[in-house]
Amino acid sequence: MGKVIAIANQKGGVGKTTTAVNLSASFAAMEQRTLIIDIDPQANASSGVGVDVKNLENTIYELMVTDLPGVDAVHATEMPFLDLLPSHINLVGAEIELVHEDNRSYVLRNKLEELRRKYAFILIDCPPSLGLLTLNALTAADSILVPVQCEYYALEGLGQLLNTISRVKQLLNPNLAVEGILLTMFDSRLRLSNQVVQEVKRLLGNNVLETLIARNVRLSEAPSHGKPVLLYDALSLGSKHYMELATEIMRRNGISIPQGVVSVAPPETTQTIDTVVAEHPHNGTHHAAKTIAPIHTATEQSVINPQ
Ligand SMILES: Nc1ncnc2c1ncn2[C@@H]1O[C@H](COP(=O)(O)OP(=O)(O)OP(=O)(O)O)[C@@H](O)[C@H]1O
Ligand SMILES: [Mg+2]
Repeated sequence: MGKVIAIANQKGGVGKTTTAVNLSASFAAMEQRTLIIDIDPQANASSGVGVDVKNLENTIYELMVTDLPGVDAVHATEMPFLDLLPSHINLVGAEIELVHEDNRSYVLRNKLEELRRKYAFILIDCPPSLGLLTLNALTAADSILVPVQCEYYALEGLGQLLNTISRVKQLLNPNLAVEGILLTMFDSRLRLSNQVVQEVKRLLGNNVLETLIARNVRLSEAPSHGKPVLLYDALSLGSKHYMELATEIMRRNGISIPQGVVSVAPPETTQTIDTVVAEHPHNGTHHAAKTIAPIHTATEQSVINPQ
């Protein structure tokens, strides 16, 4: 049975979607079958993996308001181990359409039963609110991952989120666990970033994940190309940090880390790490090859996609 992780924080712009897309891609690169569920009407995670939602028929909206089975709303992505259950702007109306449903907080949970069997990980990208859509995600999830941006108001609203989690546990989903607090957009040059990390760790201790996601321009550029950062610039700091996060979460969940494989693209576009470095000799990120390699590949010569 796959693990369902909701990525939630009602604060906007903290890195939920960036984390959903790039953590999913990193799991998929390690050949873990992964599904992203985009339950945010903004549909940023859907476009972030290259799916144009404008003319799609089977989306999370149909899943939530009709009897469409979960498997029929799944779409493939460019990565062999990564699928998407896309969002649609119509989802804005779903909260109202579901108002009279008795089981309105359980709709997603009930639809996921079959999908859980097909995937190692299912990541849900939540909207920036604690409304019915986020409630459905938290009711369906095994755990919640909370991105927190390293900025002055980092902890604002976190108390409200923690209250919501304990109410969901009491009323809807007693098994909901906290996967961790993830510090995002960290800038080691800023004293403020370092202070936020210390403060969050002091207050939340073991709940804070070890991996820090640095501010990295490749992470903000990749969505406009409809790609996870691993496909956009495999050697960037953003790729490295999200691979580290995937490794940390797999380790915490007792899942063994496959050695020597990183599957990022269909076979016809096979690249070696050496090729990627040669193609970007001046981008200032080629040093990442040395740091990314020991985690995921046996040697620096390893092929990114061995298939
Ligand atoms: N580590 C990072 N480095 C640089 N830019 C980042 C990073 N993480 C996120 N961003 C950028 O910050 C912005 C907000 O990120 P993102 O969309 O992931 O946040 P969100 O929490 O999903 O927002 P919303 O609440 O609107 O759904 C985006 O432009 C994204 O590209
Ligand atoms: Mg988002």
